[in-house]
Amino acid sequence: MPEPARALRERLQPAFDAVAAGSDPVVRPSDRADYQANGVMALAKALGRPPRELAQQIADAADLEGLASIEVAGPGFLNLTLDAAFLASAVEAVDRDGRLGVPEATERHRVALDYSSPGVGKELHVGHLRGTVIGDSLGRVLRFYGHEVIPRNHLGDWGTPFGMLIEHLGDLGVDASADGFSVGDLDAFYKSARERFDADASFAERSRQRVVALQHGDEATLELWRVLVNESVRHFDAVYRLLDIRLQPADVAGESSYNDQLDSVIEDLERAGLLVESDGALCVFPDGFLNREGEPLPLIVRKRDGGYGYAATDLAALRDRIDRLSCDRLYYVVGAPQSQHFEMVFRVAHAAGWVPDNVVVAHVAFGSILGDDHKMLKTRTGESPRLVDLLHEAIERAGTALDERGATYEEGERAYLAETIGIGAVKYADLSTERLRDYVFDWDRMLSFEGDTGPYLAYAHARIRSIFRRLGTDGADPTSQVVLAEPQERALALELLRFPEALDATLEWYAPHRLAGYLFGLAQTFTSFYEACPVLRAPDDTVRQSRLVLCDATARTLALGLSFLGIAAPERM
Ligand code: ARG
Repeated sequence: MPEPARALRERLQPAFDAVAAGSDPVVRPSDRADYQANGVMALAKALGRPPRELAQQIADAADLEGLASIEVAGPGFLNLTLDAAFLASAVEAVDRDGRLGVPEATERHRVALDYSSPGVGKELHVGHLRGTVIGDSLGRVLRFYGHEVIPRNHLGDWGTPFGMLIEHLGDLGVDASADGFSVGDLDAFYKSARERFDADASFAERSRQRVVALQHGDEATLELWRVLVNESVRHFDAVYRLLDIRLQPADVAGESSYNDQLDSVIEDLERAGLLVESDGALCVFPDGFLNREGEPLPLIVRKRDGGYGYAATDLAALRDRIDRLSCDRLYYVVGAPQSQHFEMVFRVAHAAGWVPDNVVVAHVAFGSILGDDHKMLKTRTGESPRLVDLLHEAIERAGTALDERGATYEEGERAYLAETIGIGAVKYADLSTERLRDYVFDWDRMLSFEGDTGPYLAYAHARIRSIFRRLGTDGADPTSQVVLAEPQERALALELLRFPEALDATLEWYAPHRLAGYLFGLAQTFTSFYEACPVLRAPDDTVRQSRLVLCDATARTLALGLSFLGIAAPERM
């Protein structure tokens, strides 16, 4: 029984059922004991009975197998302390299990995972980091549970800015059909298009006509547009590879891909009686949304000029994910500033009857990355740093940090470690922050080998692997028995068994920081164990083999957990 909370609930269920059938014992990890059952209080209240007395009745009736003790505490909790033999065999089972005790989901979902979703014609910048790594991490955990993930890279690839970009591209005399065409520096390209648009009235006018030509499907215009899209996707893809992000070009489903569904969105909304014409625009006024003046707030579906905007595309995309892709989970990993947009889109979709009861639609919002001044992170010239520059700086700084540790590496290994540690440090700093909180980007902190950092966790893993290297084996002997005599061994065993809980919480709250926090705690618990309990110099072979199982399970949990954060764990550092 690898998962104590589940096992304990099953153990207590009959005693709870005897009081009220189906009542939940509510087993949770505890500071006072290994676990506690919190379910008595609600039950006592419902039955009008004194909680401590009811708790005692349940404790007396409970099956004690696997428990060292069950005690009534506080206003009516049950403190549960696991029996050492139970814990030991649970850890043995975890170490023998390729999934380290994590069960597959009993109910499989098809998940449309909207993440990263940058705009075409510009490079990825630091503002894209969070959505990209949070989405990617959630995708990895979802897949491990057996869910089917359909990533949706909802590129901003349509709309008015493309008029000026296409016009500029055309003026540069680019032969769109030429192989290997490159806009080179996308940001510089965007900037010069913008400057011309602002300074040159005839260019601006031509740009506006381009938008019309684009919307009408003019082939020459579309060809230039495709050049821009392909070039941007190629750039995004290169950064995704550097970041080890699982998005593929095939996951691109940009705004433009919904163009031919927009009219039918209007028809659907019309049929549902939701459309209101306001100032020539077609709007929906979802219940409960007011502007600053307290007036009903519209979601503008079609603009006065007949054009469709961001809201229309998102409505079409949502409907498409449910109807055509048959997804029953729709997650949108997009920054917190778009919260109201998504609330309104979701509300309208529900009102239109597009969202069956079994479908969950969620905006997975996140906070911003700040500079030292606690304002949005900017370069010295006041721009948002390019993600690729940031990542290369991370790799360089990680190389320096490795050199400062005094170890010498062969050149290939140094390069590999600098990249792994540097990229891992950036990702870990991000993913270990509570999703909705803003955080200050701090090189020294994230690259430190001490504290709650990527390098610390990678090092904790590598240190354990070095034990096995010294032994000339790849891991513990799977037939070894675990004996938990020392408190630090017991604490480590308990912590190892909490991996499934941490992963459950990660999915329940769409919160990779729950996993990161668990892994940090595990590494710390391991350190205390390692300081108190010699492994290679254990008093006898039984103890040594037992401790090797604890080491093995810890290293594998760290490596698997880090892989869910998209972070590699090197064998040696
Ligand atoms: N391209 C948008 C932006 O950069 C993000 C798109 C998010 N996804 C969506 N379905 N709206 O702000």
